[in-house]
Amino acid sequence: MMKKLALACDHAAVDLKNHVKEYVEKRGIEVVDFGTNSYERCDYPIYALAAANAVKDGECDGGILFCGTGIGISLAANKVKGIRCAVVSDCYSAKLSREHNDANMLAMGTRVVGPELALLIVQHWLDAEYEYGIHVPRVAMISQIEETGKIG
Ligand code: RB5
Repeated sequence: MMKKLALACDHAAVDLKNHVKEYVEKRGIEVVDFGTNSYERCDYPIYALAAANAVKDGECDGGILFCGTGIGISLAANKVKGIRCAVVSDCYSAKLSREHNDANMLAMGTRVVGPELALLIVQHWLDAEYEYGIHVPRVAMISQIEETGKIG
């Protein structure tokens, strides 16, 4: 169960980040907000890196990222070792990203999902647990690619 989450966004997604932050805090989950908190144009990799490092270092159990599409900020987060960030725009993928892929970060696009769908997506993601079992070797292969560029 996630007890402490890292949240981050770029200028495009400040409102969605804050909307999700309110929901997450209402669930009793602690939030570390890595910004941005300004509508001034900024570079999403900076915020992705800060939040992803907090997850990698164990300061946070997981994280949720936001940009225009969710794509740029997830791509940046996925460059941090140990991060498995799933960019999703539906509840099913959000749930399965936890159950099958052990996604430790979630990303959404404010130009893709509306605020209420975003909350449902977060709800499905937070309520789901990694199922282990047959998924373990596959997730391990992802780590091997990250470590060595090879499998096996
Ligand atoms: C900013 O305009 C936009 O490019 C950014 O929020 C994001 O969608 C990138 O993937």
